[in-house]
Amino acid sequence: MIVCVCNAIREEDLRREARKGATSPGRAYAQLGCKAKCGSCLPFARQIIDEELEALSEATSAAA
Ligand code: FES
Repeated sequence: MIVCVCNAIREEDLRREARKGATSPGRAYAQLGCKAKCGSCLPFARQIIDEELEALSEATSAAA
């Protein structure tokens, strides 16, 4: 699913960048070599990144 039409960023791209350390859409987009343009995707992008970071945190806690 495309999250950012301006940059053709998919949900999977954002989840992968979150797992690689991105904690915000701006960071994830920078890691992908682009930046937000119109900005309409940012709330959804943030939600996806937050979800991924939470899942990562829970997985880390469960493994400890
Ligand atoms: S849809 Fe992402 S910057 Fe426009």
